[in-house]
Amino acid sequence: MIIAVDGPSGAGKSTVCREVACRLNFSLLDTGAIYRCVALVALEKNVMDEDGCADIAKHLDIHFVADKKGQKVFIGDREVTREIRTFEVTQRVNQVSAMGKVRAQLLDIQRRLGHCQNTIVEGRDIGSVVFPDAELKVFYTATPEARARRREKEFLAKGEKIDFEAVVEQIRLRDETEFHRENSPLIQCDDAVVLDTSELDFEQSCQALMKLIQSKS
Ligand code: DC
Repeated sequence: MIIAVDGPSGAGKSTVCREVACRLNFSLLDTGAIYRCVALVALEKNVMDEDGCADIAKHLDIHFVADKKGQKVFIGDREVTREIRTFEVTQRVNQVSAMGKVRAQLLDIQRRLGHCQNTIVEGRDIGSVVFPDAELKVFYTATPEARARRREKEFLAKGEKIDFEAVVEQIRLRDETEFHRENSPLIQCDDAVVLDTSELDFEQSCQALMKLIQSKS
């Protein structure tokens, strides 16, 4: 069974999907991590152009290893779990993931990695492009304000403050790019169930997703 979970950045879908996959004994495929690996290699090799990035995607030897804390990401033998989350990679991946040729190259990898067993596949175009026949499609979202509040909470936990209005604005801008880019924009499929988690805490969000998945099993 494939569960496609799409939605904008920063809505908390990754953490919720990870937790739900663990509780239901599903595999998890974080497709953002695949794009991030392409961006990391592109940065390291100083490759900027679309053909060059597509070539990196074509030869990407990526695999995931589940452990107690989540998932480790490897390119060949090299673990890149942390490196793909740096600011530089996050900046670059926005460009790389908008390249049509890169997206085309990554289709096969995503389908191969997702088809092993019961899997929650999370990303932006999973229900629309990668697994259009998924047994369940969920559009996981939250308002920009709710997402900014979550970010604020994370920072406060580290003793840091954020400029709330500026973060809301950043989130709006990022949504604008993801919803309106030319290649595989983030779209809410007609057959997707919308899960708006603006008013839900982490546990309630997990429960809501689990309920949807269990209704299909
Ligand atoms: O979910 P994330 O922030 O790790 O995703 C990293 C980038 O990859 C982000 O720019 C969105 C993009 N992405 C995408 O375009 N399609 C996907 N299926 C997954 C991620």
